Amino acid sequence: MPSWKFFMFFLVLYHVIGLTSAADPNYLFHDCPNTTTFNRNSTYQSNLKFLLSSLVSNAARSNGFSTGFYNATAGQDPDKVYALFLCRLVFTPTACQECVSFATSDILKRCPVQRESIIMYDPCVLRYSGEYIFSTMAAKPAFILYNINNITEPVRFNQLVRTTMKELADAAVGSPKKFSTRKFADYPRRSKSFASKLL
Ligand SMILES: *[C@@H]1O[C@H](CO)[C@@H](O)[C@H](O)[C@H]1NC(C)=O
Ligand SMILES: *[C@@H]1O[C@H](CO)[C@@H](O)[C@H](O)[C@H]1NC(C)=O
Ligand SMILES: *[C@@H]1O[C@H](CO)[C@@H](O)[C@H](O)[C@H]1NC(C)=O
Ligand SMILES: *[C@@H]1O[C@H](CO)[C@@H](O)[C@H](O)[C@H]1NC(C)=O
Repeated sequence: MPSWKFFMFFLVLYHVIGLTSAADPNYLFHDCPNTTTFNRNSTYQSNLKFLLSSLVSNAARSNGFSTGFYNATAGQDPDKVYALFLCRLVFTPTACQECVSFATSDILKRCPVQRESIIMYDPCVLRYSGEYIFSTMAAKPAFILYNINNITEPVRFNQLVRTTMKELADAAVGSPKKFSTRKFADYPRRSKSFASKLL
């Protein structure tokens, strides 16, 4: 009889193996509505497979690395597929490449027949659809990561977030990398009045 202890051991072993194989990127989120699906062995499926493999080869090219963003299409209407990947450039080019490669097989396991899917890991995002998705504003699906720490000056903080995010969005859109970072100067504010009271 397979015992519960054996099962626990298997889980522990699985995690130890998981930790030692560094290739799998940290999974965060995926979404693939099952309202629009394709048939197995359809033209859409072969277009999708072809497109995903071309994203992997682009991520592996040296110019794919330096960009960290790529969009492409495959096929003709009504079986045309639109796909893109985006890497966070705080990760190495190798992590970007491995993430895109992993994502293209992982997404087909999680979303085997869905026409439209998105999957996100720490280093990269992969997204595809049968509809045009490039340069098109979409607020959903979304995945939000919080910093659980409290802010000390909420009014000033929120003003800084608004102005900084506006600059950031403009810079990211204008860049071929579609990625940008910004840091607030002097937050939390070093209090001069507090310092003068001490003196
Ligand atoms: C679609 O997804 C919903 C929610 O996850 C699920 O309840 C439903 O059974 C799914 N439908 C099909 C046809 O797979
Ligand atoms: C898809 O094609 C393969 C190879 O041609 C075949 O073995 C398989 O049964 C097909 N699957 C479906 C669902 O038609
Ligand atoms: C990539 O997206 C842009 C819009 O941002 C579009 O003009 C371009 O044609 C797309 N590239 C491909 C290969 O579809
Ligand atoms: C944030 O503030 C709330 C309410 O004052 C408090 O309960 C919570 O512990 C604080 N969290 C941290 C991370 O300091």
